Amino acid sequence: SPPPPVPAKYAERFLEDMLSAWCLDVEYTRARGDTLYYTDDDGTERAVTDFVGGFGSLLLGHHHPAVTARMRQLLDGETPVHAQFSLRTQAHQVAARLNEILRREFAGVPDAPAGGYSAVFANSGAEAVEAALKHAELERVNRLAALEEELTARLRATADAVRDGSAVLGARLRTAIGGLAADAPPGVAADALRTALGVRNARALRRPPLFLALTGGFHGKLSGSVQITHNPAFREPFAGLGPRAVFVPADRPAELQRAIARETVNVLDTTTADGVVDLVERPVPVFAAMFVEPVLGEGGVVPLRADDALALRRICASHGIPLVVDEIQTGFGRCGAFFASSLIGLRPDYLTLAKGIGGGIAKSSVLLVRSDRYRPEFELAHSSTYAKDSLSCSVALTVLDLLEADGGQLYERAAERGRAIRSALEEVRKEYPDVVADVRGPGLLLGIEFHDQSDAASPYLRDLARRGHFGFAVSGYLLREHDLRLMPTGSAPHTLRIEPSAGISDARIGHLAGALRDLCGIIRNQDAHLLVRA
Ligand code: F0G
Repeated sequence: SPPPPVPAKYAERFLEDMLSAWCLDVEYTRARGDTLYYTDDDGTERAVTDFVGGFGSLLLGHHHPAVTARMRQLLDGETPVHAQFSLRTQAHQVAARLNEILRREFAGVPDAPAGGYSAVFANSGAEAVEAALKHAELERVNRLAALEEELTARLRATADAVRDGSAVLGARLRTAIGGLAADAPPGVAADALRTALGVRNARALRRPPLFLALTGGFHGKLSGSVQITHNPAFREPFAGLGPRAVFVPADRPAELQRAIARETVNVLDTTTADGVVDLVERPVPVFAAMFVEPVLGEGGVVPLRADDALALRRICASHGIPLVVDEIQTGFGRCGAFFASSLIGLRPDYLTLAKGIGGGIAKSSVLLVRSDRYRPEFELAHSSTYAKDSLSCSVALTVLDLLEADGGQLYERAAERGRAIRSALEEVRKEYPDVVADVRGPGLLLGIEFHDQSDAASPYLRDLARRGHFGFAVSGYLLREHDLRLMPTGSAPHTLRIEPSAGISDARIGHLAGALRDLCGIIRNQDAHLLVRA
């Protein structure tokens, strides 16, 4: 009989062809802890150690028994899942626990909001970022409206005073509104003032918002969030779809100061003293928010330094710009504390969480906004059929129980396992300093950076590096030859990310180090043919 037809591939066929070119084309059929299983061409099941960890979502590993049991229990109990616009106790419980942890981890950090942080749930990391963008813009347009109202009221009162002769325009003001003569009749002066300031201010107030973000930052790929994602390949084709962002390097806060100064626009306001009206300029809130990651994750695992973080925060605060700390990858315990920002004393105005919140099973995310900035009308402005469901919130509660158990031992465990991996990788770097450029990252968010192979002796390696495929090709080699799953960070293709679960064993760390030595030997000897599938 003829062989069964191969099913047509309509679901991202191009991506699968790329995976196949890099020898990453395996289909996992089972997962548990730090292990993924697939069946190879000979029909043998192979166990792969997963150092990618769901791109940061699997601190508890695949199918943690307590998470899986909770999920089963929820399904068996026929828990209502889709019930938008009803009361959601579990969501309040998740938000309350997050507030508790925030209070604890930021206890010594000034400027705590008296009312805590309000929570808006969403479905994915990028959606939480979209919610942050929108909430920040809502804050900004409300500030603009208040400013406009104040300006309009004062302009009317000042013009009335000029018209009835109780005030006159000062010389500076007359010049600014087009060189009005000192002896212009009061009615003419009043009209000129209203027209000139009214037109100019209306234009300044209509300026579209700008956002600030870090060079190398990653915040998602939806049409708003991609605008603050630095990688031009992701962002530029869609520049027309969303707000403009200004990118600044994290380690040069003075550049943030300059960027704000460069983009600042002023409205014209008046003050009246001794019957003479003078001009004052007031800045328009152009920047809606600044986004930072405590560790640039997808951008190459680059930790933000505490002093730089605080400088960025101070500058934003001095301009009234809310600071959004994106903890989608760093949060939920991955970096050795629940919030990586707490380790550098960086208090967020807004905070986004996703990945780990789902315990490796549910899809969920949340935006936290400090209560003194929170706009309740946002709850009608942003919502989703799927968000805040009791299933994902109940799973989040189980995850929180696991993380917070025994006085937060899991955070300590993540830090300790991270140190163990780091020292193993450091050993490799010492043996291959010509191959490994750097090892970095807090807790279980680690990166190993290879020297750029763009000028390698081997034409194959050179080509891989120049096309940005180096990290994928070496990941394919590690999978095929060593049963290890690693991936480069998307925007830094010479850096491999290492984000296993907190249960990662010494044996597996040893296995990783041995495989990396093998890989480093190949690169040192430029034996690129060994990287190609036989
Ligand atoms: N923010 C950060 C800091 C992220 O790392 C990611 C995703 C997102 C937002 C978007 O979340 O995928 O749930 O929509 N980072 C993955 C990565 C893709 O490669 O590190 P999402």
